[in-house]
Amino acid sequence: MTKILVTGGAGYIGSVVVDMLVSNDIGEVFIVDNLSTGHKEAVNKKAKFFEADLTDSEALKIIFNEVKPEIVMHFAGLSQVGESNKEPEKYHRNNVFGGECLLKAMVANGCKKIVFSSSAAVYGEPMEIPISEMHALKPISVYGETKVLFEEMLDNFDSVHGLKSICLRYFNAGGSSENGQFGEMHEPESHLIPNVLKAAKNGSEFKLFGDNYETKDGTCVRDYIHVVDLAKAHLLAAKYLLSGGQSDTINLGTGKGFSVKEIVEICKDVTGKNFNIKIEDRRAGDPAVLVASNEKAGKLFQWKPEKSIKEIVESAWGMG
Ligand code: UFG
Repeated sequence: MTKILVTGGAGYIGSVVVDMLVSNDIGEVFIVDNLSTGHKEAVNKKAKFFEADLTDSEALKIIFNEVKPEIVMHFAGLSQVGESNKEPEKYHRNNVFGGECLLKAMVANGCKKIVFSSSAAVYGEPMEIPISEMHALKPISVYGETKVLFEEMLDNFDSVHGLKSICLRYFNAGGSSENGQFGEMHEPESHLIPNVLKAAKNGSEFKLFGDNYETKDGTCVRDYIHVVDLAKAHLLAAKYLLSGGQSDTINLGTGKGFSVKEIVEICKDVTGKNFNIKIEDRRAGDPAVLVASNEKAGKLFQWKPEKSIKEIVESAWGMG
């Protein structure tokens, strides 16, 4: 069986991918996670777990010696945009230096395939919609910068060491795993769907950041993609690399945009609950519209997202 090392396997998207790998018997799965933002309960019992930080090269040496993975799926990293601008050094250390330690350990152990969790944050304020992979990279947050830096590092490791990578640039992930067991649990939670559902559950007020954007109803438009669709794309990316595929970069989105107000309405509809909305100032660094072109993923992996926005909200609500 293929040995797969998953970094960040106790986190939101990592845990859903691990669940899909083990329940489909796709490989022997090993997880490395420092549990700084991940959750021990989200560590799949069918995977072997190592609690370690990627910046700990000694720990990585031991793990790589024991596991000898053929491929790495790299989810570990910090992902709060606001926090990244306040604590840049923390983001560079985790997302860039931690990533560098991982790549060095891979090369030292002859492991030359990696699927990396990148982000639409690499594009910054888009110049055209839908956003293709060819769009200029002009991140407007430290988080986005660290994703660009690591993508560049992957390029360098390919040139010098022949390390092949697929960078998956996620748009807005939502929903939970198929069995409803693994889902979004950030602390603090900054994402839209969990925050709207929190208001629905508690009857509390939902704070909407800005209704004066140049969009159909004045609120920001995003491309929400079900985490199960994302997870399937990771499996296809791993398969592609394992069968000798070259390095590439792929957007993962649906190509459809929904405004914040539309999401609020869908959440009200799914939950049957009503709650108050308070219009707040714009949140710094929020582009008005982010919608992916997902043509390349279709061509390269024959991947197509299957789940609707309603299914995303329904599965996220099931978690609550
Ligand atoms: N929003 C609210 N209220 C909330 C939370 C969010 O109005 O309580 C709004 C935001 O202002 C934004 C939209 O809902 O307009 C979506 O916000 P999210 O925080 O859910 O998602 P983002 O689009 O900000 O973030 C996503 C990814 C990040 C990535 C970023 C790129 O989650 O990883 O896109 O800009 F960096």
